Amino acid sequence: MLEVKNIHKRFGDNEVLKGVDFKVEKGSVIAVLGNSGSGKTTLLRCISFLERADQGEIQFDDFRKDITAVSKPEIRALRMKMGFVFQGYNLFRNMTALQNVMEGLTTARKIPEAEAKKRAREVLDKVGMSDRENFYPDQLSGGQQQRVAIARTIAYNPEVILFDEPTSALDPQLTGEVLEVMKKLAEEGATMVVVTHEMEFARKVANWVVFMEDGVIVEEGTSEEFFSNPKKERTRQFLQKTDTGLV
Ligand SMILES: Nc1ncnc2c1ncn2[C@@H]1O[C@H](COP(=O)(O)OP(=O)(O)OP(=O)(O)O)[C@@H](O)[C@H]1O
Ligand SMILES: [Mg+2]
Repeated sequence: MLEVKNIHKRFGDNEVLKGVDFKVEKGSVIAVLGNSGSGKTTLLRCISFLERADQGEIQFDDFRKDITAVSKPEIRALRMKMGFVFQGYNLFRNMTALQNVMEGLTTARKIPEAEAKKRAREVLDKVGMSDRENFYPDQLSGGQQQRVAIARTIAYNPEVILFDEPTSALDPQLTGEVLEVMKKLAEEGATMVVVTHEMEFARKVANWVVFMEDGVIVEEGTSEEFFSNPKKERTRQFLQKTDTGLV
């Protein structure tokens, strides 16, 4: 469904992505793991054209092109198929939860007000935020704000949702409630790419795990295989460092 090949990206002298191949099948939940600075965020940003890759190829459904040659209208069309949930929730402070979810539907997607409201309520219900629809971001916990941000993203019905450490700003209890929502989405068949340090999530919810180091994918595999039988020494070291006691 979505695939990038041989992605290279440098910032000045620093080559941050050194030829990454990354493939997302419909319905899969991919956890992207790796130490700080390994290039995980940059990879997501290149896929979503928040950053322009220096080299590589992208394929999304029937569309296939040199990633450096994708035009602005093509980028807009590709981005319509993707949803993003990042660490900061980026909700509008002066809008309620409901208005935050409706905003993009009515402005960017030109969906009529009544229909947008109905859709917004459906997705707020899905993330367990129905009873807070009239609350402003400042009146919500971090976990609740992140759930509203997830609702806003799924309201668009994206073909794939890219998450970049969606829980890293949250304390453990709030992390749990956000991961629960993501788990539910996964069970409903959403296609998800999740950059995370949550090993439990990667192990239990993801069906494919990608481990990055220094701008390359060192190892990838089914989550079962990856955690129970890592092939590379680097992977074993990484898993040993994480305090899951799994390896
Ligand atoms: N806009 C930028 N300008 C210059 N260097 C950048 C920029 N963005 C990222 N980098 C560099 O690219 C490298 C990879 O960064 P990236 O954010 O992709 O890592 P990461 O794997 O997401 O790390 P973390 O787990 O800490 O989020 C780092 O060395 C970083 O300093
Ligand atoms: Mg990052």
